[in-house]
Amino acid sequence: MDTAVIKGPIVIPDDWPGYSLELFSYPEHYHEDIDSVYIPHGVIMNRVERLARYVMDDFGDSIVVLCVLKGGYKFCVDLVEFIKVLGRNSNKYLETRVEFIRLKSYLNDQSTEELQIIGSRDLSFLRGKSVLIVEAIVDTGKTMKALLKHVETFEPKMVKVAGLLVKRVPNMAEDLTDYVGFEIPNHFVVGYALDYNEYFRDLNHICVISKIGKMKYKQEQSNG
Ligand code: HPA
Ligand code: MG
Repeated sequence: MDTAVIKGPIVIPDDWPGYSLELFSYPEHYHEDIDSVYIPHGVIMNRVERLARYVMDDFGDSIVVLCVLKGGYKFCVDLVEFIKVLGRNSNKYLETRVEFIRLKSYLNDQSTEELQIIGSRDLSFLRGKSVLIVEAIVDTGKTMKALLKHVETFEPKMVKVAGLLVKRVPNMAEDLTDYVGFEIPNHFVVGYALDYNEYFRDLNHICVISKIGKMKYKQEQSNG
């Protein structure tokens, strides 16, 4: 019998309203700024644990995790932690090195044209390595395509991409992401290290920002 492994993602439908805020705890200072708890922290954690198992199954004995900052930091920490726990419990350790890269392409909730790689542009330590790019969110895939192209120039042995969230947008980049946590509608979401102009990284749940929140933390385009 064919026992194909169903790797997901968990698909969140367009009409999913999220959970009422009163049902969860969250930082009080955001109570006007979010509409609902879209994906509770506990659900995120369970899904990340599952993704860690897929990674364990696909990679040999060593891995370089390339964390895309800043939005990917919580996903990366939790994923690496689960990889370690699974190793301890199964005696199959994946030697894990963690590196960081910082990209910037968003102002307010809009993608800006060019991709900026801030921080380590020289990724020559990736040569010959099995690499897992860890990114919080992939939508059109423009950023990810540019990053993959950059990474490939350093001739790694293999590159895979883990995206906690993939957004259902026109020309969605489905096949770019090997491990997907959740496929979500085209909403701007915050929390679990995802920001809106640097706010909401201290929120554990993934939430939909409210109109008030968008206004309150809006920034003007600056040239600096
Ligand atoms: N939230 C936060 N940052 C993002 C998003 C989002 O929905 N999409 C791309 N960057
Ligand atoms: Mg951001």
